Amino acid sequence: MAIKKGIIVAGGLATRLHPASLAFGKPFLPIYDKPMIYYSLSILLMAGIDQILIVTSPRDHALFKSLLGDGSQWGASISFVEQPVADGIAGAFLLGEDFIAGDGVCLILGDNFFYGEGLAGLVRDAAENNAGATVFCAPVENPAAYGVAAMEDDGTVTTLVEKPKTFISNWAVTGLYFYDSRATGFAKTLQPSARGELEVTDLNKCYLDAGALKAVLLEKDFCWFDTGTNETMFEAAVKVRDTLAAEGVNIGCPDEAAFKAGLIDRAQVLKNAEAIKNPAYADYLRKVAGE
Ligand code: G1P
Repeated sequence: MAIKKGIIVAGGLATRLHPASLAFGKPFLPIYDKPMIYYSLSILLMAGIDQILIVTSPRDHALFKSLLGDGSQWGASISFVEQPVADGIAGAFLLGEDFIAGDGVCLILGDNFFYGEGLAGLVRDAAENNAGATVFCAPVENPAAYGVAAMEDDGTVTTLVEKPKTFISNWAVTGLYFYDSRATGFAKTLQPSARGELEVTDLNKCYLDAGALKAVLLEKDFCWFDTGTNETMFEAAVKVRDTLAAEGVNIGCPDEAAFKAGLIDRAQVLKNAEAIKNPAYADYLRKVAGE
């Protein structure tokens, strides 16, 4: 059965971005013309995922509600759960246990940015055909800063290490994961790591040990950023601006993602355009709707 549930992990306090994030979290900071959270949200919608749980800090909860509402404008239902202390990505499965209710689920980090031709097909395929766990991997020059995977030609993961000290491969495990119904059960067996967190890599290792971990490789033509630093936020913003100028595509537009995934119709896109007072963005939505 296709995965229809998704969790966006966005509960951190983004101290690395101070002072930009002193008053509110990084999900609200702009990547060019949209709040950062729109980009991960668009990936879920692109995959046809319409039940979405946002993990938020208590501080940002009300802001999220005012920004995203209940998600109906994108044909989705959006709910929120507070994470009192940032205790690691895999903690989302414990906070989200009632939401997941034993179903398959996609998890995406709220500061991850993806773009590339064919991306919609890849995420939709993962949502529809995931067996075990599927992780999206991207080539990086500094693998020591990430979770890293080595895999066979068919994508079966053979090795997985968080922040490897010795070289394993250049394939970083990005913050986009699809899991079958075992994820919460596995998450309950995890112990905090040396940095005091329930590591998503440890969860993925449970699937690796069960022989059920696949990697989807985002080859060089794809673009992936962890926008958790000023520098990567800036690079992502440039990518959005340049892609809009060169290809006429506005990366990370939830209305477009929802429309193309069949979650909303043309009339809803036009209604969403009416609500936007920025003429350039509203015009883009009208173009998406075919006007
Ligand atoms: C986290 C994960 C890591 C992954 C990265 C992707 O790292 O632990 O496996 O490669 O996100 O953005 P962190 O940002 O917590 O260091």
